[in-house]
Amino acid sequence: MRSKRKKVAVILFGVLFLCACGKQHQPSAEKIHIGVTYYNQGDTFLNQLISSFGNQLEKMKSDKLDITMTIRGASSSQRIQDDQVKELIDAGCNVLCVNLVDRTDPSEIIDLAREHDVPIIFFNREPVAEDMLQWEKLYYVGADAEQSGMLQGELAVDAILENPRIDRNRDGKIQFVVLEGEPGHQDAIIRTENAVDTLKSNGIELEKLSYRIANWNRAQAQSRMMQMISQYQNKIELVLANNDDMALGAVDAYQKLNYTETDIPVFFGIDGTDVGLEAVLDKRLAGTVYNDKENQAAAMAELAVDIVSKNGKARKDKYIYLPYFKVTDDNAASILKKVEMSGKKK
Ligand code: GAL
Ligand code: CA
Repeated sequence: MRSKRKKVAVILFGVLFLCACGKQHQPSAEKIHIGVTYYNQGDTFLNQLISSFGNQLEKMKSDKLDITMTIRGASSSQRIQDDQVKELIDAGCNVLCVNLVDRTDPSEIIDLAREHDVPIIFFNREPVAEDMLQWEKLYYVGADAEQSGMLQGELAVDAILENPRIDRNRDGKIQFVVLEGEPGHQDAIIRTENAVDTLKSNGIELEKLSYRIANWNRAQAQSRMMQMISQYQNKIELVLANNDDMALGAVDAYQKLNYTETDIPVFFGIDGTDVGLEAVLDKRLAGTVYNDKENQAAAMAELAVDIVSKNGKARKDKYIYLPYFKVTDDNAASILKKVEMSGKKK
């Protein structure tokens, strides 16, 4: 009886031993749980950037890499976003991608992340330099605001030189207005300044009629543009908008007021969102500047995987900036196609 028990025990032990060895040959997949929170779920560019991020992560999944993602929108409230970061960390995220509501106020989020040793990739809304030094596991992925303004300025210079009818009242000056993004955002004032400086340094005489803040938002831009039209009627020759949604809001305003083509200005945006590219294609916008969301998303995805699997050791550079490029009706169709292809499943 006793020896039978002994035999069973030996066999059981053997089976367990074999199981354990088998496991060693098949290491379990690396688990990457990414928590994303972004400032506002109504933002066209960010919705497309995050969807591209999801597609890229999907393509990186493998037997060795188990990637999951949880996304939260912060309804433009920093307090809500702070709570979301807490929730994401509690849910077991091992890396965070944060698009700050208030880019000057990341301390609470950084403290929470550091307490739990969860690295943060900030994106699109750049924290101030000193805050990026608060901890070594902070990164930023974005683009160079100055360059986007310069490229928008160059697009406008080309259009004005090519088409003298843009100066509708033929006074040798271009009467223009600006639609600006959120105050305090690195992409608002810097874009405007660089676009205007580029026009001036290329010898274009300008007369700034007015500007309005429309917070990146198409509906707000439409209503601000209606105000400016009622003030200046058909005097406006050029609209510089800090992004495509606001440029399109300006177009909407003229459409709503039934302006005919001979009385409407030329419009320039920045982003190259799907709606922006389509508007360049059908010439509602004279041009836009591509804010390279696919490569920004790819940089975030690679960085996230690297940070978790190599514990951040492979990365010394905290900043990744992707370049912008110009979009006119010459290349809008091919870019739209590329964007569509990159969204396809693997
Ligand atoms: C900018 C972009 C805007 C808006 C903003 C949000 O880079 O051009 O459309 O998305 O970021 O932070
Ligand atoms: Ca003029």
